[in-house]
Amino acid sequence: MKIISVVGARPNFIKIKPVLDAFAKRKSIKSILVHTGQHYDALMSRKFFKELNIPKPDINLDAGSGTHGKQTAKILEKFERVLLKEKPDCVLVVGDVNSTFACSLAASKLGIKIAHVEAGKRSYNRAMPEEINRVLTDQISDYLFVPSAAEKKILRGEGIAANKIHVVGNVMADTLLGLKRKAVKTKDTYGVLTLHRPHNVDDKARFKQAVKIINTIARKTDIIFPAHPRTVKQLKAFKLKAKLSKNVKMIEPVGYKTMVNLVDGAQFILTDSGGLQAEAVILKTPCITLRDQTEWTETLGWGNTLTGLNERKIKTAVNKALAGQVKFKTIPYWDGKSAERIARALMK
Ligand code: UD1
Ligand code: UDP
Repeated sequence: MKIISVVGARPNFIKIKPVLDAFAKRKSIKSILVHTGQHYDALMSRKFFKELNIPKPDINLDAGSGTHGKQTAKILEKFERVLLKEKPDCVLVVGDVNSTFACSLAASKLGIKIAHVEAGKRSYNRAMPEEINRVLTDQISDYLFVPSAAEKKILRGEGIAANKIHVVGNVMADTLLGLKRKAVKTKDTYGVLTLHRPHNVDDKARFKQAVKIINTIARKTDIIFPAHPRTVKQLKAFKLKAKLSKNVKMIEPVGYKTMVNLVDGAQFILTDSGGLQAEAVILKTPCITLRDQTEWTETLGWGNTLTGLNERKIKTAVNKALAGQVKFKTIPYWDGKSAERIARALMK
């Protein structure tokens, strides 16, 4: 069975790692890795391949940045050429970025089977580009690998046949639990911040409001802020960088192991990331999600709090975290075996 797996953006690299490992164990799978080039800076891409020992992509489409239409179209056109040449039995995509949908669309038009890892997630906010990518990818997928029974129910409600849906768990848990690392013991009190959603950083008034709130929190504890390239660009454009408190330590994007250690040692994380909500909860670090909806609903009330940019809610959540009052639970199927379940289902 010839499978082309697709990655494009930072969260994809973390998710594909255990899947490729599971494929490598099976002689009957010929695995090809395509990188769309959606993320291309060394700190947003190469670093993760090196650190996680992900095989070098067989093909790089070098699509780069652009508007949604341009980026999606570029990937679609270039990936179709790869499919016509390689004629795989299946295309495997992960998550919800533009690369995910563009490559699924190319495969579907050529009648090639599509496997979607992390299917069925919904924030129910169609203003987020990821929500469109999720809904459309799921509609044309043949194997829908979902993190829990909740997503199966969502997909059944959208008319997807039950035999296409496989409850496998969360591949990000595989990567995180498989990481060989020393426990971090730190006496420092600090929070971590990541922010990159267009809704938060592309709107000047909203980004300004976020900076104001973060500065208030930084009066209590230092905040380490590995900043996404979009965020750095917008901080400059809106002249907000100088407005950040000196207790907010803005740094370049960090590698995965550093990120995991930072989150593990922190008293809390403030974020609008998808992946970090799941990882924080696994690491039992309180997560304060600076969004109004989340697709990671299974984490709500169990380490993750949705606050949007509501200052009162954020302060309350930070105080609860600093007082050690946040409850966690182990989420079923987030057991480090998801990628094995995926490989097994594909071989059937
Ligand atoms: C993308 C995903 C988002 C995901 C995020 C993970 C979509 C629609 N969005 O958002 O779901 O959460 O990745 O990080 O697919 N840039 C660089 N260097 C890079 C990559 C990007 O400087 O290596 C800059 C460019 O100015 C670019 C901007 O960041 O225009 C945005 O990049 P893009 O991939 O379009 O969207 P993200 O915000 O990264
Ligand atoms: N991450 C990282 N370094 C950083 C920021 C994030 O390694 O500086 C990791 C993080 O641990 C998670 C993934 O990148 O595994 C999440 O990516 P991101 O927040 O960019 O995207 P999202 O999950 O929101 O789509």
